[in-house]
Amino acid sequence: MRSNKLEARIVQVMAFGMCAALIALTAGCNPSTTLDGNGNDNTSTGDNGSTGGNENDNAGANDNAGTDVVSFAGDIQPIFTTNCAGCHSPGGAADLAGIALQLTEGVAYDLLVSQPSVQDPDLTLVAPGDPDASLLLAKVESDSPPVGLRMPRFAPALSDDEIALIRSWIQQGAENN
Ligand code: HEC
Repeated sequence: MRSNKLEARIVQVMAFGMCAALIALTAGCNPSTTLDGNGNDNTSTGDNGSTGGNENDNAGANDNAGTDVVSFAGDIQPIFTTNCAGCHSPGGAADLAGIALQLTEGVAYDLLVSQPSVQDPDLTLVAPGDPDASLLLAKVESDSPPVGLRMPRFAPALSDDEIALIRSWIQQGAENN
């Protein structure tokens, strides 16, 4: 009798444990959930408000953690001009495919930052301060982004350094600097 009860308890505990693990797994493994959540609702804005606020204050003041400030004009636009603008410009392959995103100098910034993806309007192209909620980063970093193919399409991936620059630029608030 006793041991039956004990066994029942053990089974219960195990079931609970597996449930928790499953929940953790599904929450952790679904990239589009992360993108949606961060891009869309403002659950994480409270988050960002406090962390972002601190980070910005610190970046300007003292605690830079050794990260250089990334410049959109000096560091990011040249990556786009070399690797992306051929297709992402009027008459280019992306334009002809109905993608509004142009990555030429002078227009790229406004078409990227806080703008929805044409392919999935629930996703944000660049979410300032939140690289992992930014489709732009997923598209250059992942072989299976949430929509479409890895960019640059049909060409070798960007270098790790270039990808790191884009990540840092977004992390630092995606400024037009
Ligand atoms: C050979 C042409 C080509 C090149 C080069 C290219 N793209 Fe694209 N891009 C496309 C096409 C076509 C699509 C739509 C289909 C897709 O997402 O795979 C697209 C879609 C995108 C999207 C999603 C836009 C949206 O609103 O959903 C992003 C972001 C993007 N490209 C970024 C880049 C970046 C950054 C580069 C350079 C590193 C780049 N692309 C280079 C053709 C190209």
